[in-house]
Amino acid sequence: MDTKAIGKILGPRFDAVPADGARALKELGLAADAAILDVGTGNGNFAIYLASQGYRVLTGEPGTDKSHYAGKDWALNAKKVGVLDNIRFQAFDASKLPFESGAFDAVFFFGVLHHIGENVRSEVFREALRVSKENGAVVFFEPRKEMLERIWVDDPGHPLAANPSNYLPGRRTREHRIEGSLMDIFIYRKAAASLLCE
Ligand SMILES: C[S@@+](CC[C@H](N)C(=O)[O-])C[C@H]1O[C@@H](n2cnc3c(N)ncnc32)[C@H](O)[C@@H]1O
Repeated sequence: MDTKAIGKILGPRFDAVPADGARALKELGLAADAAILDVGTGNGNFAIYLASQGYRVLTGEPGTDKSHYAGKDWALNAKKVGVLDNIRFQAFDASKLPFESGAFDAVFFFGVLHHIGENVRSEVFREALRVSKENGAVVFFEPRKEMLERIWVDDPGHPLAANPSNYLPGRRTREHRIEGSLMDIFIYRKAAASLLCE
């Protein structure tokens, strides 16, 4: 099923994903069998988008999260659009990922970092870098103004976007930012010793 057809079934929150998702995937050039972690399942929109592009996805959120955006029936959404087989769920907290170092080609956070307490964001970033491969990527999507204005209609208390670079842990990374249509995309890769910023 193409993303337009999926959007008709899942609605506007899914429609916010494909254009900016495609920008990130184009930049990453992931292999078809890439190991992918999607942090912060929510309604499953981003995991479903990745699955619709043919990837197998491991997604999760804390089993204890009782917030408005957690514990949603992502599996029903995935089933409705025929991609449930490509998505596996495991409960986890991003500040203590239960995965081996270097396990993933890409670790995605779609609309998630601003929902994580400021005091643990650096730890979450450090963990995402730890579980990504040496040539892997950590990718944050954070809402731009227009997206926030849409969200605030239903959820006036929704937090402002986070800037991941404020939480960069103390290791060398290369950052690449892409201005999306609704989300800003921040891509981080582990830098070789001679490259770029701390
Ligand atoms: C707005 S939802 C994300 C939307 C989702 N990515 C999508 O595409 O539909 C925010 C998510 O962040 C998750 N989250 C918050 N704190 C977290 C943490 N410490 N570790 C993992 N996920 C967390 C919540 O449980 C929730 O699933």
